[in-house]
Amino acid sequence: MRHVNGTPGNKRLSLQLLLGSGALILVGATMLFQPSALIARGQNPNTHQSTPRHKYSEHIALTYSEPFAKGAHFLPSNLETDTGEFIDPASFPTARYCGHCHQEAHRQWRESAHANSNRAPWYLRNVELLKQEKGVEFTRHCEGCHDPVAMVAGALNPGVNNRRSFDEDGVTCSVCHSVQKVDTRGTGSYVLGVPAVLLDEKGAPIQRPVSDAEILAHLDRHSAAVMKPFYKTSEYCSVCHKAALPRQLNGYKWQRAISLYDEWQASAFAGESPLPFYQKPQVSTCQTCHMQDEPLGLPEPGAKHGQFASHRWLGANTVIPAYYHYDEQMKRVVEFLKNDVFGIDIFALERGAEHSQDRSAETAAEIVAPLGRVAYAVTPGEVLTVDVVIQNKGAAHSHVPEQRDMYQSWVDFTVQDQAGKVLKESGSISPESGALDPRAHSFTNRLINIYGGLNGEHQVWSSRVVAYNNTIQSGRSQLVRYSFHMPAKAIGLIRLTATVKYRRFNQHFIDFGMNMRPGKHYEETVVAMASASMTIVNGNNEPLPPATEAIDTWRRWNNYGVALLDARQYDAAVDAFAQVVSLRPDYADGYINRAIAEIQWQRFDDAGTDLAKAVAIAPDNARALYYRAMVERTAGNLEAAVADLQAVVAAYPRSRDAHHELGFTFYQQHNYAAARAEYEAVQAIDPDDLAAHYNLAILYRRLGLKDQAEHEAAVFNDQKDDPNAAPYALAYLRKHPEVANETSSWHTHDLDNTSDEITDALPTSFTGTQQ
Ligand code: HEC
Ligand code: HEC
Ligand code: HEC
Ligand code: HEC
Ligand code: HEC
Repeated sequence: MRHVNGTPGNKRLSLQLLLGSGALILVGATMLFQPSALIARGQNPNTHQSTPRHKYSEHIALTYSEPFAKGAHFLPSNLETDTGEFIDPASFPTARYCGHCHQEAHRQWRESAHANSNRAPWYLRNVELLKQEKGVEFTRHCEGCHDPVAMVAGALNPGVNNRRSFDEDGVTCSVCHSVQKVDTRGTGSYVLGVPAVLLDEKGAPIQRPVSDAEILAHLDRHSAAVMKPFYKTSEYCSVCHKAALPRQLNGYKWQRAISLYDEWQASAFAGESPLPFYQKPQVSTCQTCHMQDEPLGLPEPGAKHGQFASHRWLGANTVIPAYYHYDEQMKRVVEFLKNDVFGIDIFALERGAEHSQDRSAETAAEIVAPLGRVAYAVTPGEVLTVDVVIQNKGAAHSHVPEQRDMYQSWVDFTVQDQAGKVLKESGSISPESGALDPRAHSFTNRLINIYGGLNGEHQVWSSRVVAYNNTIQSGRSQLVRYSFHMPAKAIGLIRLTATVKYRRFNQHFIDFGMNMRPGKHYEETVVAMASASMTIVNGNNEPLPPATEAIDTWRRWNNYGVALLDARQYDAAVDAFAQVVSLRPDYADGYINRAIAEIQWQRFDDAGTDLAKAVAIAPDNARALYYRAMVERTAGNLEAAVADLQAVVAAYPRSRDAHHELGFTFYQQHNYAAARAEYEAVQAIDPDDLAAHYNLAILYRRLGLKDQAEHEAAVFNDQKDDPNAAPYALAYLRKHPEVANETSSWHTHDLDNTSDEITDALPTSFTGTQQ
């Protein structure tokens, strides 16, 4: 840890900072004259019948409505307080109070999404829909993450005044810095205590008001009151960055909404799984990427060696800084989005197949790859299909996350002539309606609601089914294909450009959120996150000089192979990985990757041979052992599979996949006790793992644990997919052929056929707000 608190040198520095700034002396003067306004009212969480907290809580409880379960104040959120009682909002020191000492923290936080989580118009309008439709109690689901102070205050109750001063501060300093406990269920799965800025000499939170002088005289006890080691873990962030839509909210069934934490946990960045295609040399937590150390502008006594863990939480939110004119935040978010998040490789040309959606018909097609490394000749007027490989290399989770279909990220692909004139395009934005070309390749997941339309106003409580999910997982690649006729005449260079673009909200959602008048559109910043270009000519095309290569050829083939795997083109993936193996015979993962494609294709013998080669190169390679176990199990060799999977679990004790497979293999061996332990290990990481619920329901029954079995079965039944939901998606897609193309993992964007009769893919909305 970087803790340096309590050292005399550091204290001197803090005091110097506090006294050295003009702004601070001003605030200091205010403090002298109005001490009560800026003094924290810390209280002891160890409640006693007579404490003010208890009285406050009793008072609130008198009129508090609890429709979901008696005594469960905060459902449908998982938020709890330390004693189960409400907390007086007055006991939360304001951000302004912390900020008179922590100036840099305050300036950054103010511009962050956290500080503005419960005041931007689009959020308020969205949550108002829920309130109108179902009642304020249901908004407790949202506010456990968006407005925690209102939650624990018991202020989300019928008849309570809507806007309170703490709403303006959303997720404020004293919320995050009073978190006592967390678990990884998400949906607000943290325990909030009464804030305290100081502990007494025995380590108990101080109840009475605390002066600045006392804080400064006992900095170690200030630190201990506001900082805990687990704040530096991803589990801490998971509480609000993983979410489910429980049955209480939607009256339907449990649905997974956001799983950034689980995705991170399975990604290479966490270092907890052997399965990612590329491993990372070190672990990156959420904080590593989203709270990077940065140099100071304003005085900040909490800084370590002149560096401060960023309280801007740079991510993808460009609407908050634009709306509130937070120029610095805007600049930084845009930089963050452009900082090497995506790799784009215009990798191959497919020739000789006319606009085919069907790979089998295309195997005859010639593949020219990797572009830039090979010579080829183009016949004027011929149809080319361009294969663009897009890799999510910079985010430890999917882009964009699930149940976030109002965020918009897509590929803008253009064919330009030598003068720069755009001849063809997929992914433009209509200047009139602001809507994105519905045929664009977008990294989205489309939610269909109970009314059979797109869930356009983010009414997650009405979600029925995800029609399709084209988001890119961390480390994975997606293949995006465009076909067009080359110009019939030799007109010089033709430039192909693929750009990943992002805007926070699709036009429909922001127009709804900003309550725009019909026909008016709110304009948003579009960020070009990454871009790649290449040129072709009619006639002969020569390879580029090798020095211009951005990445190694074997890696290009590997990314292409991964994209083919995810597009379920297993034969082509085997061929792509064969190129990797021939370029890098020393690279164990090349053989493993080919084996994965072979396993998918049920060619277990070939997979076994490839895995043997991988193990010969790297005997301890857990990824090779994992897949070898799959092959062994298929061959009925359960002992060997168990031995391999046990080695994987020993190397990666938090690999959910390895525990799953080991549990299943034990189950096949009728070793129920051992199988149970594996599935319980999965649940310790993700308490809502669906397969674990299912398998534990069976295992507990076999082990005679009837109650536990019933519990797991009930949870499974609530969480499993609803077979009656699929028709909602099908009905929607039938009405929208332009997006239906996207549901197939292997599809082509036909640039010649961008006819005008595109039916608008805008959401069908039940609120009548569609514009
Ligand atoms: C009187 C000035 C003052 C006030 C008011 C104050 N702090 Fe601090 N805070 C400090 C100083 C000085 C340090 C540096 C402690 C050290 O170096 O040991 C610090 C350190 C911290 C740290 C870092 C602890 C660590 O171990 O890394 C956190 C977190 C923090 N404060 C949060 C808060 C919050 C939240 C509030 C408001 C509820 C607050 N502070 C109010 C002066 C203050
Ligand atoms: C588990 C915590 C959690 C819950 C519960 C939750 N949200 Fe959010 N919400 C977030 C986070 C985190 C973001 C931003 C980051 C992201 O989208 O991943 C967000 C973003 C949003 C946005 C976009 C805001 C912006 O400025 O970009 C809206 C609108 C929104 N939520 C509405 C709701 C509504 C309405 C509910 C209740 C039905 C709800 N949320 C429940 C955590 C939550
Ligand atoms: C969303 C939760 C959250 C909010 C809101 C928040 N903090 Fe923090 N804060 C953290 C976490 C997490 C860390 C530890 C980061 C790390 O070291 O990786 C931290 C660290 C700090 C530190 C020590 C920084 C360092 O470089 O070691 C200070 C000081 C601090 N916070 C003060 C504040 C103040 C003041 C506010 C309000 C203006 C605030 N925090 C708001 C979560 C939060
Ligand atoms: C108490 C709940 C809570 C906790 C704890 C929390 N967040 Fe958030 N976070 C939110 C909410 C709510 C939003 C979205 C606010 C909005 O846009 O309206 C958000 C937004 C963000 C964003 C901006 C997202 C975007 O779309 O740009 C990032 C990044 C982020 N959080 C990272 C973190 C990290 C890292 C941690 C752990 C150190 C953390 N958060 C802890 C509730 C929380
Ligand atoms: C390796 C760096 C990295 C790590 C680790 C990481 N992120 Fe991110 N995150 C990014 C990048 C880059 C983006 C912007 C691109 C995007 O939106 O996908 C982002 C975007 C986000 C957003 C806003 C995007 C959205 O649409 O909601 C949230 C919220 C977020 N991250 C939360 C988290 C949380 C929580 C964790 C830990 C469980 C985490 N991140 C771990 C790099 C990282």
